[in-house]
Amino acid sequence: MAELIPVAMIGLGQWGPNLLRNLREGGDFQVAALCDRDAGRLERFAPLHPGARLYSTLEEVAADPVIRAVVLATPAGLHEEQAATLLRAGKDVLVEKPLAMTLDGARNLVLLARALGRVLMTGHTFLFNPAVQRVRSIIDSGRLGRVQFISAQRLSLGQVRQDCNALWNLAPHDISILLHWLDAMPTSVVARGLAFHERHEQEDLVMATLEFPDRRMVSLQVSWLNPVKVRAMTVVGSERMLVYDDVDQEKPLMLYDRGLSEVSAPTTDGSFEHFRLVVRPGPEERIDVEKREPLSLEVAHFAECIRTRTEPTGSGDAALRIISVLEACQRSLRGGGVPVVPEPV
Ligand SMILES: NC(=O)c1ccc[n+]([C@@H]2O[C@H](COP(=O)([O-])OP(=O)(O)OC[C@H]3O[C@@H](n4cnc5c(N)ncnc54)[C@H](O)[C@@H]3O)[C@@H](O)[C@H]2O)c1
Repeated sequence: MAELIPVAMIGLGQWGPNLLRNLREGGDFQVAALCDRDAGRLERFAPLHPGARLYSTLEEVAADPVIRAVVLATPAGLHEEQAATLLRAGKDVLVEKPLAMTLDGARNLVLLARALGRVLMTGHTFLFNPAVQRVRSIIDSGRLGRVQFISAQRLSLGQVRQDCNALWNLAPHDISILLHWLDAMPTSVVARGLAFHERHEQEDLVMATLEFPDRRMVSLQVSWLNPVKVRAMTVVGSERMLVYDDVDQEKPLMLYDRGLSEVSAPTTDGSFEHFRLVVRPGPEERIDVEKREPLSLEVAHFAECIRTRTEPTGSGDAALRIISVLEACQRSLRGGGVPVVPEPV
């Protein structure tokens, strides 16, 4: 059995405890330290990890020679600086999404990790989601035909962020999935959004249109001001269609053998042949999806990359492409919806 990797968990807010549970239970890590600037959060999770040191600052974690790896689940605006400090201290780092709030910042981190020979992973959890992987294999198999359009909706009531808008908070997930499915960068993006509360300047709602090569188009909607949780993506192919609903435990993936077909319709005066589109109805099929927690797969992948010294899935250039698309959407948003070409990575 491989040696356990001493790890520190920084940030024990809403999300950190999920990562912590997987670190504790996964069998690859030994939780050597917990860190949060909020003493109440430390007190709450310390009893589950009797041997772990408790720190209130990241610098203490960086200076602890026992710790080899760090998982960072602090607010997005802190990621860049904190991850750089930890990499420079010789730690392998799993940083929650988004990796950084600018492409330049993310690129600096990726280059720093490569220069220092450290593992830098971004928590793109959905790339470890068996349903997302299943969709990719269905697309690759050609069952959908040519993918023409994808719509993505990620909506819920809260959690409202102070340090970033709904785009940077929610869309990293959709963009990581879209780039994985379409295996390409958008050629142009347009984004509009609204901040509904005057004194809170962050957009609660963002709607974006992304154009991909070969006449493929994506509609993306993210919001933390919606009465119910929606996590739905529809893929429309030239042959079949598919709906991935991450909220539906029973039927997360449905394939529809439906579409529009061209039929010839002779004109009444017989002058020239005419075509029209008609609905092609067809059966639906529930696609089985392996029931494994994506986060446990993500944490196990981090351990494997630490042991084999390899760049993790969804990290390096892949992580930069996600930030490049986010940044392009943000620039379009600030420009009132002007088309923006994402910077190449
Ligand atoms: N992968 C996913 O599916 C997923 C889901 C939710 C959140 N996230 C990401 O996780 C991160 C955290 O989100 P959250 O909802 O837990 O936020 P949160 O605000 O609930 O928690 C952040 C925690 O970090 C602590 N903290 C802040 N600054 C610190 C510092 N300098 N040193 C030590 N501790 C500090 C806070 O006290 C708090 O406990 C965000 O980047 C978010 O995007 C990812």
